Amino acid sequence: MKRVAILISGGGSNMVRLAEDMIGDHPARPVLVLSNRPDAGGLSKAKKMGIATAVVDHRDFKGDREGFEKALISAIDPYEPDILALAGFMRILTPVFVGHYQGRMLNIHPSILPKYRGLHTHARALEAGDSEAGCSVHEVTAELDDGPILGQARVEIEPNDTADTLASRVLVQEHKLYPMVLRRFAIGDKTPILLP
Ligand code: GRF
Repeated sequence: MKRVAILISGGGSNMVRLAEDMIGDHPARPVLVLSNRPDAGGLSKAKKMGIATAVVDHRDFKGDREGFEKALISAIDPYEPDILALAGFMRILTPVFVGHYQGRMLNIHPSILPKYRGLHTHARALEAGDSEAGCSVHEVTAELDDGPILGQARVEIEPNDTADTLASRVLVQEHKLYPMVLRRFAIGDKTPILLP
């Protein structure tokens, strides 16, 4: 049974879907939900689901990225995760942290990578007049939002879409895609999943 640590910064809706999917004959189970924000809404959701939680507040390490990542690793590794799933985790990770979990760390990003790495992806797609948007699950490598794609889901951009209406439609796809990708990744299957 693969052990999965999920890292969040906010509401944790992706974390909830991942945890809800890891039941029965699923080859993995959630062993930890960690947030860099003590006030992250996802922490109480994880507690309600009976999942161990931890907080490493990045504000305690003002500017000391290395110290923050060392504290992250010290909080995570006692749970002996086989897989790390970043799910709305909003801190940039250095090659040191990425290297420590090389090959076993996933992230979900709200764009059709390689388009729109970084932030404000939906606003940028609207600004560019794109006809579609979506989300990508990828392996995390040292380059931001750049690792091998494990899954993508596309949504049509509609004429009166705003960044918010688009984000909420993409989030529905994230909630479908991420659990599917994690289930495959847990059995070592890296065949990309493309929705629809
Ligand atoms: C989602 O849009 C996801 O794409 C991004 O973080 C946002 C919030 O996710 N990575 P969650 O509700 O905290 O899972």
